[in-house]
Amino acid sequence: MSEVLRVEGISKKYANGDEIIEALKNVSLTLHKGEILAIMGSSGSGKSTLLHILGALDVPDEGKIYLNNIYEKNYCKEPYSTQIRSKYIGFVFQQFNLINDLTVIENISLPLILDGVEDSLIHKMVTEKLEMVDLIGKEHNRPCELSGGQQQRVAIARAIITNPKILLADEPTGNLDYNTAKDIMSLFIKMNNELKQSTIIVTHDPMVASYADRVLFFHDGILKNEYQTNNTDTDIDEIINLFRNLVTR
Ligand SMILES: Nc1ncnc2c1ncn2[C@@H]1O[C@H](COP(=O)(O)OP(=O)(O)O)[C@@H](O)[C@H]1O
Ligand SMILES: [Mg+2]
Repeated sequence: MSEVLRVEGISKKYANGDEIIEALKNVSLTLHKGEILAIMGSSGSGKSTLLHILGALDVPDEGKIYLNNIYEKNYCKEPYSTQIRSKYIGFVFQQFNLINDLTVIENISLPLILDGVEDSLIHKMVTEKLEMVDLIGKEHNRPCELSGGQQQRVAIARAIITNPKILLADEPTGNLDYNTAKDIMSLFIKMNNELKQSTIIVTHDPMVASYADRVLFFHDGILKNEYQTNNTDTDIDEIINLFRNLVTR
């Protein structure tokens, strides 16, 4: 399978007063084209730090990043990082991060307006994405008038409006109930199939991780283990076991 994003030997330290925190220690991983990769790990294990680096929002202290198999020396450096983000990457967050004073359609259009795309094209692109996330009829509502699941669908439509090939989601179902989380995961799978995306999802939830093709397990900034799902009922039990071993070891 061909790769879309690969990192080798990524390390990241934070200074917290006199204390040095090693958030990531020599992490290497590959995101393949069309793949959904789940990242699990206890709180503070470096998951968000990793996602920020993969999304060109933060700079690693060490390590190399390859995009479409090409070493990108300036991946995390301005102005390249802004270009990489706007061309290749969509972000989805736990808290949706929608603008409450704007309608659904305005929230989703915002990245295109900022890019200077013309109005007629914006309308077409937004309508396509509204259909993809099943929000036709809610165009003129404000986020506060929608359920949590609907708000996350708006945030997802905004994230994919520029057709990014890589979607990065940090606990996207963390604020949603079980069935809504399942709907959102089905949507991620549909988007990967129809939009030829590759997706990384950080999650605490073994049910959510079981939708992925592979699950990576982090502890204390180290990539400890990996599980390839096989789309059977045993996936969730395997993921729970591997996650438990990670934390109690
Ligand atoms: N900006 C920061 N400054 C100092 N320490 C940080 C910063 N961001 C994260 N950390 C620390 O790095 C470690 C990893 O954090 P994070 O990547 O947010 O973990 P996770 O997302 O797995 O909960 C934690 O110990 C956290 O406190
Ligand atoms: Mg986090």
